[in-house]
Amino acid sequence: MRRICAVLVAMFAFVSSADAADTYPSRAITVIVPFAAGGPSDAMMRILGEHMRQTLGQPVLIENVTGAGGSIGVGRAVHSAPDGYTVSFGHLGTHVANGAVYKLGYDLVADLEPVVLLPSNPMIIVSKTAVPAKSLKELLAWMKAQPRPVAAGTAGNGSGSHIAGLYFEQVTGIKLQYVPYRGTGPALNDLVAGQIDLIVDQTSNSINQVRAGAIRAYAVTDDKRVESAPEIPTVDEAGLPGFHMTLWSGLWVPKGTPKEIVERLNQAVIAALNDSDVRKRMKDLGLQMTPQDQLTPEALGALQRAEIAKWWPMIKAARISTE
Ligand code: MLT
Repeated sequence: MRRICAVLVAMFAFVSSADAADTYPSRAITVIVPFAAGGPSDAMMRILGEHMRQTLGQPVLIENVTGAGGSIGVGRAVHSAPDGYTVSFGHLGTHVANGAVYKLGYDLVADLEPVVLLPSNPMIIVSKTAVPAKSLKELLAWMKAQPRPVAAGTAGNGSGSHIAGLYFEQVTGIKLQYVPYRGTGPALNDLVAGQIDLIVDQTSNSINQVRAGAIRAYAVTDDKRVESAPEIPTVDEAGLPGFHMTLWSGLWVPKGTPKEIVERLNQAVIAALNDSDVRKRMKDLGLQMTPQDQLTPEALGALQRAEIAKWWPMIKAARISTE
C-alpha cells in the first residue's frame, strides 16, 4: 500500500511539474538584483526586464535585496521555490567571488541552475575630480604620496568593485581603504560629491558621469578601448599593462527548476539581447554583447566554474575578514 502511495505521489509530482512548465509563466516573475537600485546590475536588469515582459507576457519585477557583497540577495533566490518565478541576477562577484569570501548558506554551483550569460564590460578606474592627476601614472604617484590609503568605494566585500580593488592593490602594490556601499550606484553618488576618492567600477556604471565631467577616468581594464568611449585609454596604454578584468553578469534559478522553464527564460533573454534598441542601450553603456555561441545555460555554467578556479586563489590569499 505504502509503495502504491509513493508511486502515486511521484506521478503527481511529475505531472504537476510538467503541467507547471506547460503553463509557465502564469504570473509575474521576480528577479532578485543583489545590489541597490541605480547601480549597473539594476540598470542592466531593468533594460532586459522591459523586453522580457513582452516575450513572456507577464510582468518581470525587480527586487533589490542588498547586503554582504550581494550574497544576501543570492541566498534569497537560492532558497526560493524552483518554479521559475524567482530568478537570481548576479555576476563575477556574487556568483564567483562571494564563495571565497563568505561562509555562504548555499553552494554557488550545486544549488543553482545557470540560465544565460549576460553582457559584460571591463572595469574602469575613476576618481573624484579634485584628485590632481591627469593620467593613470600621475594617479598612482598621487596615491603613493598620500599619508594614508585613499578611500575606494565598493559594493561590499566580494563584490565586483571590491575584487577589482584587490586586483588593483596586487598589481600596483598600493593599499586601498575600502568604503562599502549597498551597490556602486550609491558609491558613485559619493564619488561625484567628492566624499570618496576612487572606484574601480564597472564601466557601465561610471561612463555617463565620466562623459558629464563629474568624475575622472584613467583607464579601462582591457586590451582594447571601449567602442562607445574611445577617448579612454586601456591599462596597457596607460601604464598598468596586463591589469585586465572583465565583469560578466548572468541569470540563475534554483536547482531543480524544470528544464523547460530554464529554456523559456533563456529564450526570452536572447530575444531581448537580439533587440536593436536593447543592444544600442547596452553598447552605449560600454557593455559588450555575449557571443551567440555563449548564450546557452551550459556556457554560463562552464564560465562560472572556470572563473571560480581563476579567482578564488587570489581572493583567498587576501584573507578578507567578513566579521
Ligand atoms: C559590483 O561592484 O559588484 C556591482 O557593480 C555592484 C552593483 O551592481 O551595484
